[in-house]
Amino acid sequence: MKNFFKGLLTLYILSFLIGLLTVNAEAAVGKPTNVSFPSEAKYVGTETCATCHEKENREYELSTHARITVSNENEFIANGCEMCHGPGSIHVDNGGGKGTMINPSKDPSICFSCHLEKKAEFSLPYHHPVNEGKMSCADCHDLHGTDPRPWTSSSMDDVNATCFKCHKETRGPFVFEHEAVGEGCTTCHKVHGSIHDKMLVIRDINLCLRCHTQVNYPTIGDFNHGATRFTQGTCFSGGCHTAVHGSNFDDHLRY
Ligand code: HEC
Ligand code: HEC
Ligand code: HEC
Ligand code: HEC
Ligand code: HEC
Ligand code: HEC
Ligand code: HEC
Repeated sequence: MKNFFKGLLTLYILSFLIGLLTVNAEAAVGKPTNVSFPSEAKYVGTETCATCHEKENREYELSTHARITVSNENEFIANGCEMCHGPGSIHVDNGGGKGTMINPSKDPSICFSCHLEKKAEFSLPYHHPVNEGKMSCADCHDLHGTDPRPWTSSSMDDVNATCFKCHKETRGPFVFEHEAVGEGCTTCHKVHGSIHDKMLVIRDINLCLRCHTQVNYPTIGDFNHGATRFTQGTCFSGGCHTAVHGSNFDDHLRY
């Protein structure tokens, strides 16, 4: 029995690693396609935008996207501000104003023109409602800032802070904290979309066993879960540890 579960765990870790590989392969970013810019407008270049949008430009100069040039063999496509906002000549000729530039916070298609694989993620059965227009990439990503990810790989705290803006109920403080949350919401959740309900990374006991496997498994903590518990469902359903983010009432996070 023990070996069986060890096998399961290995399988899981393997599939996780393969998952990582695939994501990396997909992360290769393509060139913009199928973007409908205001048809008659022409590109004017970032220097022109900077004359009126000094603040955005100052932030943007240090950002990831500022280092990108996109063009195909024959044709210049876009870089700078206009890669996300579309060609700006009409906007500039009008002295600025609303409605003459693409605003990606209202429609993310311009992002998908390069980040095609993100379009697929937001089309999975369980996803943040970006395509539905209820929120935008900019709710979590700082596109003009030095790094579009307003967090660092060394500090998951910042990712959580982004999530807490909207999901305050997961923030606590709780009388009984679940240390896993300190590892970051992404330990258990996909952020764009997932095939699993609640955007879980995986929706079975392996979600929890990654951290809660002991030598005397299926004992977890000081309780043998094998015969009676695992038949009831996942660790977090069936009336078990439903307070996965922390509890004010029960030290075993049951409610
Ligand atoms: C002549 C000055 C001027 C220039 C040049 C200019 N803008 Fe603007 N822009 C404005 C003004 C004014 C507004 C309206 C601000 C407001 O109402 O809050 C604006 C608004 C915008 C908006 C918001 C539009 C919306 O509908 O919400 C974007 C995006 C934008 N500009 C991008 C750019 C880009 C990219 C460039 C370069 C291609 C550029 N601007 C060049 C003056 C300018
Ligand atoms: C990587 C994509 C990207 C690039 C490149 C980019 N922006 Fe933006 N910009 C955005 C997004 C997304 C928003 C919407 C942000 C929001 O709603 O908080 C935005 C919003 C704006 C706005 C409207 C702000 C407001 O308060 O409504 C202006 C003006 C603007 N950008 C100007 C610029 C200028 C000038 C540049 C170049 C120096 C630039 N942007 C480069 C993605 C980009
Ligand atoms: C013209 C193509 C293009 C457009 C349009 C574009 N991006 Fe990017 N973006 C890139 C490239 C290329 C990178 C760098 C990829 C890398 O370093 O792996 C990048 C990087 C990023 C990253 C950081 C990835 C990382 O690993 O750090 C985020 C987040 C991001 N883009 C979001 C957006 C959003 C949101 C939009 C729309 C507002 C957008 N991008 C529009 C090409 C684009
Ligand atoms: C709910 C918050 C949220 C929203 C909305 C969101 N992102 Fe992200 N995004 C994240 C987080 C968090 C990460 C880092 C994921 C990780 O570290 O596992 C990320 C990573 C990325 C990356 C780089 C890593 C990768 O997965 O390739 C890109 C590119 C990206 N997002 C693009 C987008 C685009 C484009 C949109 C809008 C269409 C968007 N994101 C909307 C939170 C969000
Ligand atoms: C701008 C607000 C906003 C931010 C920021 C945000 N979310 Fe969400 N989140 C939403 C909305 C809206 C939904 C959809 C709720 C619904 O459909 O009832 C959602 C749904 C979810 C769900 C599924 C909940 C359910 O009941 O199906 C999870 C899990 C989730 N978000 C996690 C995260 C994580 C992790 C982050 C940080 C990377 C994050 N969210 C950042 C607004 C946000
Ligand atoms: C240890 C794994 C784990 C971590 C870490 C985690 N979650 Fe969850 N989350 C879950 C599980 C399991 C569910 C419940 C799924 C179910 O019952 O269908 C859930 C449900 C949710 C929901 C749906 C509403 C609810 O409470 O049931 C939201 C929103 C959510 N999580 C956001 C977050 C945010 C934000 C973070 C980071 C602060 C986070 N989660 C960290 C495992 C986790
Ligand atoms: C990233 C690692 C990690 C993940 C994933 C994780 N946990 Fe935890 N969990 C911990 C740590 C660390 C503690 C505190 C030390 C301990 O009691 O083992 C803890 C404590 C607990 C406790 C309280 C211990 C007790 O005495 O009752 C419960 C219950 C719990 N976790 C349930 C879950 C459930 C359910 C899941 C899956 C949804 C899960 N954990 C996923 C790391 C994790």
